[in-house]
Amino acid sequence: MRLTLMYFSPTHTTKKVVSAVGKVFFEKLLCETRIADITSLAARMREYAFGKDDVLIFGAPVYGGRVPPLLLPFLAKLRGGGARAVALSVYGNRDYDDALAETCGLLEKSGFTVCAAAAFIGEHSYSCEVGRGRPDAEDILAASTFALAALEKTATGAKINKKVRGGFPYKEYSPFMTAAKRMPAVDAEKCSHCGACISVCPVCNIAADLSDQGRCIACAACVKFCARGARAFIEQGVLAAKEKLEKNCTARRTPEFFI
Ligand SMILES: Cc1cc2nc3c(=O)[nH]c(=O)nc-3n(C[C@H](O)[C@H](O)[C@H](O)COP(=O)(O)O)c2cc1C
Repeated sequence: MRLTLMYFSPTHTTKKVVSAVGKVFFEKLLCETRIADITSLAARMREYAFGKDDVLIFGAPVYGGRVPPLLLPFLAKLRGGGARAVALSVYGNRDYDDALAETCGLLEKSGFTVCAAAAFIGEHSYSCEVGRGRPDAEDILAASTFALAALEKTATGAKINKKVRGGFPYKEYSPFMTAAKRMPAVDAEKCSHCGACISVCPVCNIAADLSDQGRCIACAACVKFCARGARAFIEQGVLAAKEKLEKNCTARRTPEFFI
């Protein structure tokens, strides 16, 4: 048996959830394990093929209640080969809408049997006041509890019994989700030209002179990983979304499991 932990995680909350679930699988199975961090463009260009002896734990953040658009072609080219999969969506305490059902559907379409799925909460990409510090200790405990049940279920090779919340017709991507020119602005006085923003950008949008190549997906990696706080969103759509989230989405939401 071979275990693969695969995640797209610009601001690292999805990575934490997938790692917590994966840790339990690894400790129980003690099998060959590989990590496929598909956050970078280079990693998403590779081919990933699976077979009957594989178990995939796949995680992605929720963007606009859906799977991030840039993952659709990536998921379509995965070759599942009858492998078993666990699907995870991580959302910023608003809602995951159709994202988890969509993830399960895309994995099934690529030849996986999805045995278990769950939605977890991560600190929102646009506001540290929404889902602050999550996944936290309680979430990691929930991830371990989920993992034990998911492990048992994957051993049977059976599909999820419970209907995953969300589904067709999927929520439309808002025009904001596909709009260009959303790159967070740089404060020239704070920027030390360390290049951190360039290296964490999942779509290689930031050129060496820090100019915008028009591919920004507004994931907030360059904002969160700038040690000097030199990057900030100034685009009206993001600022309005942040304000709305801080007003309406701070009540703690809890993880949901589908097994
Ligand atoms: C473009 C974009 C759209 C988002 N849409 C949603 C959403 O619909 N619902 C929600 O609760 N969180 C939403 N979020 C927040 C992320 O899902 C959340 O912060 C997640 O933990 C980020 O994962 P990461 O740390 O792995 O990048 C969105 C974030 C971004 C960047």
